[in-house]
Amino acid sequence: MSAELEKARGYEEKQEISKEERPVFHMTPRIGWCNDPNGFSVYQGEYHLFYQYHPYSTQWGPMHWGHCRSRDLLRWEYLPAALAPDEDYDRDGCFSGSAAVTEDGRHLLMYTGVQKVYQEDGSAQTLQRQCVAVGDGLNYVKSAANPVITEDQLPGSPLDFRDPKIWKDGNTWYAVVANRTSDGSGAILLYKSTDIQHWMLAGTVDRSANQIGKMWECPDFFTLDGQGVLVISPQEVKLEDRAYREGNEVICLIGSVTGEASSFVRRSMEPVDQGLDFYAPQTLESPDGRRIMIGWMQAWETSKFVPEGQKWFGMMSLPRELRIRDGKLFQNPVRELDACRKNPVEYRNIHMTGTQTLSGIKGRILDMIVTVRPEEGEKYRSFTVRLAQSGRYYTSLCYDQERRELTLDRTHAGLDHGMMDRRTVPVTGEQEELKLRLILDRFSVEAFVNDGRQVLSAVIYTPQEADGISFDVDGACRLDVEKYDLEG
Ligand code: FRU
Repeated sequence: MSAELEKARGYEEKQEISKEERPVFHMTPRIGWCNDPNGFSVYQGEYHLFYQYHPYSTQWGPMHWGHCRSRDLLRWEYLPAALAPDEDYDRDGCFSGSAAVTEDGRHLLMYTGVQKVYQEDGSAQTLQRQCVAVGDGLNYVKSAANPVITEDQLPGSPLDFRDPKIWKDGNTWYAVVANRTSDGSGAILLYKSTDIQHWMLAGTVDRSANQIGKMWECPDFFTLDGQGVLVISPQEVKLEDRAYREGNEVICLIGSVTGEASSFVRRSMEPVDQGLDFYAPQTLESPDGRRIMIGWMQAWETSKFVPEGQKWFGMMSLPRELRIRDGKLFQNPVRELDACRKNPVEYRNIHMTGTQTLSGIKGRILDMIVTVRPEEGEKYRSFTVRLAQSGRYYTSLCYDQERRELTLDRTHAGLDHGMMDRRTVPVTGEQEELKLRLILDRFSVEAFVNDGRQVLSAVIYTPQEADGISFDVDGACRLDVEKYDLEG
């Protein structure tokens, strides 16, 4: 084991964070900082999740891969750090990547090695190249053939060439990798290999052409419900449509794939998460055939706002089951969460006006479904649910029925992020009813809207004592509330 990896493992071993300082179901780094999920995979009957990791502080730094595993995608057990930047070709970071299982049953990691290379004139270039490592689910050995995909087989810039997502089809290995093209915007390249060490460029799956942001990061490419799906995390997005956010976004491109995987024909696109915190997601196929996505529940733009005294920073979203229905993406929490629901409290068809609280409806670790309908013959103007509430604290979701818009607002959640605390998005569909499934897990809110047609996620670092929930209606409406505590 290299000195760098030994140091990281020794360091994380010595740190202690109590259970109460973390969410129950949302993976947080063992210590220090995490960003993207990496290597989300099934190995020897268990789910493995790696993550971009800087154990030594709560800020981004030289990237390691942290590691954990789970039987149910909800309760994660920490394993020792898997990769450290300890070779020339990844000296400046082991960036994002993915995992698969080899023919002979080993766990294969594919990642981006980052290396600053000095030119003769003294200037430096930071090269990004693809590397592999194999292991037994605990310890990983980097290949002597690294880096396995270099600037030699690259149409675009070697400075932005990262985040390989690997899979196997028959006897052929495939990987999609993000790259910046000569027009300055992103493209997703497809590579092929038969032995994991030698790779050939097989084509371009899709490209931005400066239409959908600039550089595209963290591609994932799969088929789902008969459709081809390419998920990307573009930077510098400036779409006019308010369904999308400026800056870093996650976008799902839906189309068809024929023959070789590079022949993807995009038909539509949509935002993946319309909240404040979601980036760089990755998917796996579960043993029972579900396509499951996990993302970094944090925005880069606000990632310097670390609550005082906190020993970890950055967390994963709840894993979501994906489906495509009528050409649209639907996302819902993994069904494993249902088994954690305890203490049901239910209200049906209650008449609501003004501001109300409901007995038994409060908490910070819960699963709650709220369904709002107009009162017969009447229209209400807006409906608001306030969460994590006490004194000056709350986070709200407000539905403006006339405009059919939903606003997520954490301005009063207790940590000021400037401009990044509020977002209004159009609600899609024609339905009269609004259905919100709200998942709270100490430091976050995830809102699954209308059976998963839209999702809004946000972290909230509100003191845990703020556990009130209240409802507010401008006008009158009918309300169903079904609430469960979640127990880990
Ligand atoms: C996305 C990203 C990736 C990169 C990693 C570095 O959040 O920028 O493109 O591999 O983070 O930590």
